[in-house]
Amino acid sequence: MQVVLDYLKQNQARFVAELCELIRFPSVSAQPQHKPDLRACAEWLVQHCRCIGLEAKLYPTAGNPVVVAKTPRGKNSRKPHFMVYGHYDVQPPEPLELWKSPPFAPRREGRNLFARGSADNKGQHFAHLKAVEAYLKTGTPLPCDLTFVIEGEEEVGSANLAKFLKAHRAELKCAAAVVSDTGMPSPKHPALTYSLRGISAFEITLHGPARDLHSGGFGGAVDNPAMALCQLLGQLRDPNGRIAIPGFYDDVKPLSAYERKQFARLPGTDAELQKLTGVKKLFGERGFTPNEQRTARPTFEINGLTSGYQGEGSKTIVPAWARAKITCRLVPDQNPARVRKVVCDYLKKICPPTVRMEIEAGHGAEAYLVSPASAQAQAALRALREAFGHEPVLLREGGSIPIVNDFKKVLGVDTLLLGLGLPDGNAHSPNEKFSLDNFENGQRMSALLWRELSRC
Ligand code: BES
Ligand code: MN
Repeated sequence: MQVVLDYLKQNQARFVAELCELIRFPSVSAQPQHKPDLRACAEWLVQHCRCIGLEAKLYPTAGNPVVVAKTPRGKNSRKPHFMVYGHYDVQPPEPLELWKSPPFAPRREGRNLFARGSADNKGQHFAHLKAVEAYLKTGTPLPCDLTFVIEGEEEVGSANLAKFLKAHRAELKCAAAVVSDTGMPSPKHPALTYSLRGISAFEITLHGPARDLHSGGFGGAVDNPAMALCQLLGQLRDPNGRIAIPGFYDDVKPLSAYERKQFARLPGTDAELQKLTGVKKLFGERGFTPNEQRTARPTFEINGLTSGYQGEGSKTIVPAWARAKITCRLVPDQNPARVRKVVCDYLKKICPPTVRMEIEAGHGAEAYLVSPASAQAQAALRALREAFGHEPVLLREGGSIPIVNDFKKVLGVDTLLLGLGLPDGNAHSPNEKFSLDNFENGQRMSALLWRELSRC
C-alpha cells in the first residue's frame, strides 16, 4: 500500500494537469449544441483510461455515450467486484459575465482549481481513476475488481442510463457502487452521505394573447400571463414556508428524534450559511433547522422564470406567454410522478380562465436512503478517517443523483456516497471550484477504500 500512496504523492502535478485537460471539454448536457463536446469528452476519458491500464470502451445510448472502464482481471476472478460511478457532463456555465475566468479554462489559485465541472463531477471521479492508476502503475495487486461507469447525462436526469444498466446487468454485477459526487461540511469533516433527496421536474407555460400586444392599446382589457403566473405560483407557499398544495406532504415521514439529534451535531452555523449564500435573511419551513430544510424536507423551487421582453431598455407589451421551470426536491417515500400529479392537479384547479395552461413533465427520481451501519459503510468510514486524518461524519444531503436508485433496483446494490465537494465550491454557480487538497485526499481515500471494502 505504501508504494501506492507514494506514487500518488509523487504525481500530483501531472494529475492536476490531466484534470485540466478533462475540464476543458465544455460538456454541458442541457444544451444541444454541446453534443459533440460531450462525445469528445467521453472519447478523451476512454483514451485516458486505456493509458492508465484499464480496459475501456465507449457505449452509445439514445443520449450521450457511457464510458465503461475495467481493471484487467482473470477469466474466473474470485475477487470482490465494485463499481465506481461518475458523470462527465456538467451544468450550463451561464451567467458567463460573473465568472472571474472563462468557465472551461481551468484556473489555479492557491489550492483551488476554478472551472465548470471541476468539482461536479470531473475532479471527483478523476480522483478514483488516479487511485487505480497508482495500483496498476506500481504493479500492486488490487484486492478487488473494479468497473468504472462514467455517464454524460446526470445533470439532465440520467434518462438513458437505467436501460444501459439493465442491458449490462451481468457484467455490472457487483458488491457495491461507490460514488464521489456529494459533499463534506468542511475540510476537517470527511463525510459518508446516507441519504439524497429525489426530484420531480416540470415546466409550466401560461398562454395569453395570440402574440405580444401593445400594453397601452390592450393592457387592462386582457390578462397578463406573467402576472397570472406570479399569482398562481404565489399561492403555492404559505408564510411559514410550507408548500400549500393539497397532498404534497402525504407520504413525508416525520424526522426521528435520533436523526434530529445527529443534525444538531453537524458543523456550520446559521450565520455562516447566510454569509455563504449572500442572502439578506435565511428562510425556510418553520419548525426545521436549515440543515433539515436543505436535506430532509421536500421543496418546491422555481429554477427559471421567463416572460416578455428580456433585452436592454424597455418594451411596453403584454407578453403572449409566461413560463416557469420547476423542480420539487423529494424525500424518502415520495413518488416523483405522484408529486407531479398532485402539483399539476392543483395548478389546473386554481388556474384562471383568462389563460391557457400547459404543463410539460421533465425528469424524476426518488430520494435515496441507506443504512450507514452496514459493514461496507463502516469500511468506507475507515478509509475516510485514514485518508483525511479526521473523524468522518454521516450526512443527509439535499441534492439528487437519480441513478443510485437504479443501482439498487437493477443491480441490487447499495451506493456508498463519499463526496469531495465543499460547501463553498460553487457547484451549479459561477466560479465553481475544486479543492486540490480534497483531490489528493480523495485519491488516497479511494486507494484505501478498496483494501477496506474487500475485507467486508
Ligand atoms: N453532484 C450533484 C448531486 C449533489 C449535490 C448531491 C449536492 C449532494 C449534494 C449532481 O451532479 C447534481 O447536481 N444532480 C442534479 C440531478 C438533477 C438534475 C436530476 C441535482 O441534484 O440537481
Ligand atoms: Mn450537479
